Amino acid sequence: MTDGRIGRLTRAIYPGSFDPPTNGHLDVIERAARCFGELVVAIVVNPQKRAPMFSLEEREAMLRACVAEVKNVRVEHFTGLLADYVRVVRADVIVKGLRVVSDFESEMSAALMNRALSDVDTLFLMSDQRYSFVSSSLVKEVFFLGGDVAALVPEPVIRMMAEKRTSLQRR
Ligand code: PNS
Repeated sequence: MTDGRIGRLTRAIYPGSFDPPTNGHLDVIERAARCFGELVVAIVVNPQKRAPMFSLEEREAMLRACVAEVKNVRVEHFTGLLADYVRVVRADVIVKGLRVVSDFESEMSAALMNRALSDVDTLFLMSDQRYSFVSSSLVKEVFFLGGDVAALVPEPVIRMMAEKRTSLQRR
């Protein structure tokens, strides 16, 4: 009997901005952690992109609190190319979530580019239908305009978002 994992020695990497992590991210993390021996959740530090709302330290703290109970998951961060970081952590596969068909268009070229650069494949998990409309950017927009997003993000995230709102209001 196995415990349902595809291969206990397989290490997967789940990259993202996680600004902030959502229940959709957490769902992918928990499901991927059941498939692979080890899962590295890798937060991108991307100086080319618009500054994130949450600092790297805040995103790491939120993610670590969210995955504290999932033993084979660790949270790291990286700068530069994902394909290079895949080699650093010796990941066997990249994991991504797909919510809607439009995700597929950009993810397909990213997967092909990452395979060309690192020879590592990307495996996709379909997002749970409860989260197919949930993105970090929409969650932020709704929350900071006063909407209720408690059902869409994990508890440590809603607490950090409330703190952020308070600190922004004080400015
Ligand atoms: O959560 P996001 O913002 O959709 O995640 C995007 C991420 C981190 C997967 C992507 O931006 C990425 O891989 N960035 C690292 C830089 C890189 O390797 N770019 C080429 C991708 S083919």
